[in-house]
Amino acid sequence: MIVAITGASGVNFAVKLLEALKNHNIETDLIISENAKDVIELETDFAIDRIQNLATRCHSENDLTAPPSSGSYKFESMIIIPCSMKTLSAIAHGFADTLITRAADVSLKEKRQLILAVRESPFNAIHLENMLKLAKLGVIIAPPIPSYYIKPKSIEELNENIVGRILDLVGIDSNIKRWGEF
Ligand SMILES: Cc1cc2nc3c(=O)[nH]c(=O)nc-3n(C[C@H](O)[C@H](O)[C@H](O)COP(=O)(O)O)c2cc1C
Repeated sequence: MIVAITGASGVNFAVKLLEALKNHNIETDLIISENAKDVIELETDFAIDRIQNLATRCHSENDLTAPPSSGSYKFESMIIIPCSMKTLSAIAHGFADTLITRAADVSLKEKRQLILAVRESPFNAIHLENMLKLAKLGVIIAPPIPSYYIKPKSIEELNENIVGRILDLVGIDSNIKRWGEF
């Protein structure tokens, strides 16, 4: 599985996702955008290498020779979490100038699962048009939106539920509270 982190707010979701994938022994290729590195520093206490250590392999977004840039490299899904509006736009327009946007382009051309945990509010018409364009191509637009019906006792629990719903999309069961089961 390819996991990419871009410079939108909410890297904590990516960290939780990587931890879960590691616990499930899923091999991961991690790409962190240069802008994401700045946002991680501004928003969190995570050291970049602590996040990178959660992945099986890490690549620079500038390394267009890395395996995820080729359709011959086998991966089942790509998850961009959080996904900025800039990266969304690049993917929607086939502008594959970084390893993240190239791997997403590969996902589209090879018809592999692509999940975008887009994060912005409010959305403008350009954002919405880009999301609609990609949704019509089968991309899953999965913004990290909380489910308050679980009656969370903490932000941590709320975040775990958000990541659990993304794990559901890639067929990994997590012990999240599900409607009808509580
Ligand atoms: C603290 C911080 C938070 C940001 N949050 C968002 C966000 O939630 N969504 C978004 O689209 N851009 C956000 N941005 C702007 C992106 O970082 C910027 O558009 C950048 O070019 C994205 O590049 P990338 O997609 O290559 O990582 C944020 C920037 C900063 C500094």
